[in-house]
Amino acid sequence: MLRHLTSIDQVDDALAREIFAIADDMAAARRIPTRLSSLGGRVIALLFFEPSSRTILSFHAAAARLGAAVIEHRGVESSSLSKGESIEDTIRVVAGYADLIVLRHEAAGVAERAARVSPVPLINGGDGSNEHPTQALIDLYTIRQEIGRLESLRVGMGFDARHSRSIHSLCRGLSHYPDNDVLLVGPRELWLADEQLGELRGRGLRIEQSTELELLLEREIVYVNRFQLERIEDAATAAGYRERYCIDAAAMARSNIELLLDPLPRIHEIATEVDALPQAAYFRQAANGIPIRMALLSMLA
Ligand code: NCD
Repeated sequence: MLRHLTSIDQVDDALAREIFAIADDMAAARRIPTRLSSLGGRVIALLFFEPSSRTILSFHAAAARLGAAVIEHRGVESSSLSKGESIEDTIRVVAGYADLIVLRHEAAGVAERAARVSPVPLINGGDGSNEHPTQALIDLYTIRQEIGRLESLRVGMGFDARHSRSIHSLCRGLSHYPDNDVLLVGPRELWLADEQLGELRGRGLRIEQSTELELLLEREIVYVNRFQLERIEDAATAAGYRERYCIDAAAMARSNIELLLDPLPRIHEIATEVDALPQAAYFRQAANGIPIRMALLSMLA
C-alpha cells in the first residue's frame, strides 16, 4: 500500500483502478453527506509554499467532506521557512500536529526530501516544475470518464512542456498504459530536454515535439497548460507567444479534438468562446479534484 505520494510513477494501473473506484464511490456518496465521516477526528496539514487555488481548496473541501479538520500555511512569508528553517524540520514539526501532510513547494525534488523524513503520509501538491501527481490522477480519471480508456490514445499537449509539472506527470502517467502516443507542441525553447524525452521513450511512450499548432489540432485529446512565466527566465518573450499558441473557436472548428483539457488556471491558451463547446471538459476536470482527493486522503490518512 502507498505511504507517501510524491510521483505519479508510484501509481501503477492496478492502484489507479483502486483509486478511481474509490473516487467513483466518493462522488456517489457526496449525495448522502452523512455517510462521509471516515476521517472524523483526523487533522490534515496543507503546507502550500507556492500560490494555489484549485489544489489547496479542493484538498480543503475533500478533507471537510470526510470530516477531517485542516491546518494550513499559505505562502513562505508567514511560515518559519522565511526565517531559514529547513523543509525537513518543518515537516518533522508539522507531523507532530497532523495525520497527513500535503506539500506544495517551488523547488523540484522537495516533496521527495520531505517524504524521506515524514513520519506521517505526505502527498506532493506540486514541486516546482517537477511533478504534480494528484493532478495527473485527476487528468487520467477525466480521460477515462470522457473517452472510456487510458490506452491507445493520441494526445497533444501544449504549450510549455519544459516547465509544466502537470504535463510532466501526465506524460509519465500515460506511459503506464500501452500504445499511447503524445505530441508536445510549443516554442522550441520550451520543449522537453532530450534526456527527458529519451526517458519517456524508454518506458514505451511514443513522444515527439513540434512548434506547429496545426499538428496539435489533429489530435483527439488535447491537454494545454499556460506558459509557466514564474519559471521561465525570459518571461517577456514567452508572453509574446500567447497569440500564436491559443485555441479559439476557429481552431476547434478545423480540429479533430474530441476532448479538451487544461489543469487551469486558464490564462491565454484557450479562448473563453470555446467554453460552451461539448469538448471543453476543463471545468468537469477541475470538479473531479474533489472525488480524487477524497479517495487519496481516505486511502492514505
Ligand atoms: C497547475 C499547477 O499548479 O501546476 N495548477 C493546478 O494545480 N491545477 C497548473 C498551473 O499552475 O499552470
